[in-house]
Amino acid sequence: MLTNGGIWRDTAGEIIQAHGGGILHHGGKWYWYGENKGGETYRKGEIDRTDVIGISCYSSTDLVSWKHEGVVLPAVAGEEDHDLHPSRVVERPKVLHHRASGRFVMWVHIDTWDYRTGHAGVAVADSPTGPFQYLGSGRPLGHISHDMTAFTDERGVGWLVHSADWHSALHIVRLSEDLTEPAEVVGIEFVGARREAPAPFQHDGKWYMLTSGCTGWEPNAADLAVAPNPWGPWQSLGDPCRGGVDPELTWHYQSTFVVPGRTPGHFMALFDRWNPGNLGDSRYIWLPFQMNGADTVIEWQDSVDPSRV
Ligand code: DGJ
Repeated sequence: MLTNGGIWRDTAGEIIQAHGGGILHHGGKWYWYGENKGGETYRKGEIDRTDVIGISCYSSTDLVSWKHEGVVLPAVAGEEDHDLHPSRVVERPKVLHHRASGRFVMWVHIDTWDYRTGHAGVAVADSPTGPFQYLGSGRPLGHISHDMTAFTDERGVGWLVHSADWHSALHIVRLSEDLTEPAEVVGIEFVGARREAPAPFQHDGKWYMLTSGCTGWEPNAADLAVAPNPWGPWQSLGDPCRGGVDPELTWHYQSTFVVPGRTPGHFMALFDRWNPGNLGDSRYIWLPFQMNGADTVIEWQDSVDPSRV
C-alpha cells in the first residue's frame, strides 16, 4: 500500500524523486520517470526553484515497490548554455516506446529559469533505464511550449500535447514516425482556457484528458475533457475530483499522468503536490478511478494499492 501524500521511498530507503512524472509499461515492468528535485530550493526573481539534477527513473513489477535505476538524463554542469545546465528548467518527462526500432524516446519541457524560452526537448535510449542521449530542443513548429506531455496511441502514432503561445491554448502535435520530431499541429484546443499539466488517456473509442489551471506552484481546479480524436474537438466535462479536503483545488495537487488499469475502464490518475518552500518534498497521490462517461469522478483515497488497479 502507498499512503497518498506521505513520504514515498524507493527500495534503498531514499525519498522518491520523480516529480511531474510519467509511467511506461514495458517488458513486464513499470518504469516511472520524473524530475529529481532533491537539491536545495531557492528563490530566483519571483520563482521558487531547484537546480536541475536530471530525470530519474524507477522500476517496479507491482507499481508499489520502486527501485531507483539512476538519473537517466543527468544535468550537464560544464556548459552554461546547455539545455540541461543546472540553472535551467527540465520538467514533466514522458517516455515513449518506438515499436519499429525498439528505441525509447523521452519528451521533456526545457526552459530557462524564467520560463521565457519555452522549448520541448527530446532524448533517446536503447533501454528504458537509459542512458538517454539528448538530441536537443526547440519550439514545436515555431510555437512556444510550456507544460507538455507525450503519448502513443493504440496504433503506435506519437502525439505531443503542449501548452502553447503563453498558455492561450493546448496544441496537439502529431510526432514524426520515429517519435523524435514534431510533424504537424493537428489541433489548437482549450483556446482561452489557460489549461496545463495535460494527462490524456484512451477509453472505449474516445479520448480523455485531465488538465489543471495555470497558477504556478499553487493549486487550482482540475478538469476532465473528452474528444473523439486526439486532435479534438475537446469538450470539458467539468471537475471530476470529489471527497477529501478541497477537491475543488484538486486536494492541493496537480495532474501529471493517467495509467491504464488491468481491467478495461479502470485507470489511475497521478498527481503532484508541489511544495514551493521545499520542492524536493513535493508529494504524490495516485487515485484509481473508473470511467463512467460524462459522470466520471475521481474520489480521494487515503491510501492506494496500485498493484490491484
Ligand atoms: C506549473 C507546472 O505544471 C509545473 O510543471 C511547473 O512548471 C510550475 N508551474 C512552475 O511554476
